[in-house]
Amino acid sequence: VRTAAVIPAAGRGVRLGPGVPKALRALGGTPMLVHAVRAMADSRAVSLVVVVAPPDGAGEVTSLLDAHALPERTDVLVVPGGESRQESVKLGLDALPEGYDIVLVHDAARPLVPVDTVDAVVEAVRDGAPAVVPALPLADTVKQVEPAAAPGEPEPVVATPDRSTLRAVQTPQGFDRATLVRAHGTVTDDVTDDASMVEQLGLTVVTVPGHEEAFKVTRPLDLVLAEAVLARRRL
Ligand code: CTP
Ligand code: MG
Repeated sequence: VRTAAVIPAAGRGVRLGPGVPKALRALGGTPMLVHAVRAMADSRAVSLVVVVAPPDGAGEVTSLLDAHALPERTDVLVVPGGESRQESVKLGLDALPEGYDIVLVHDAARPLVPVDTVDAVVEAVRDGAPAVVPALPLADTVKQVEPAAAPGEPEPVVATPDRSTLRAVQTPQGFDRATLVRAHGTVTDDVTDDASMVEQLGLTVVTVPGHEEAFKVTRPLDLVLAEAVLARRRL
């Protein structure tokens, strides 16, 4: 069974602050997106990577990827993305050729995911799960609040969910292709990950162990951590 990875990379990265789109920001001198593509291509299971580029940046992304070496066995396709992550993933799926029955969806903003995590996700889909997410226990206690009417106002706490049953989920999330296509064709609610769309179909999503280094680069401090992780790897 052949596996493809779709990499949504069309976001601006508002929370990271002003600058070029987040996926094109450098990490150890190499754009974050290139790290993310390599992280997928490092898995022997992955033979195609579909990069979903900023809507007006597909040309730039294509030349960027041409300039960086990838394993011989990996094909790369670049398509323009959309307004939301969900829409960008859908556009990537629409561009997927026949013959790939397992699909990974991986954030460009998680450039440092280790190959063992990627392989564990693929393995679980091969073993029959329609949807698989890497997950980690939470370090912080989580509170449900009544969201403030205005920024900075105190927010009353409504509940404290039992942390031991909660997980923070990462990417790549892995899917049986037909299931993911059906989810993207059916679910219209705003969601923040692909697996939740499969949950809405009534199917069971399973977890595999995530990895600390698969964290998402979201805010400026995450860039500091990512640079440190890369520097440690290069020792
Ligand atoms: N993404 C996308 N298309 C969009 C929005 C997001 O492909 N319209 C991608 C991002 O490029 C990123 C992934 O979805 O790789 C995860 O999203 P996030 O971390 O939220 O990135 P951004 O949306 O770019 O950041 P922000 O929300 O801070 O603007
Ligand atoms: Mg976003």
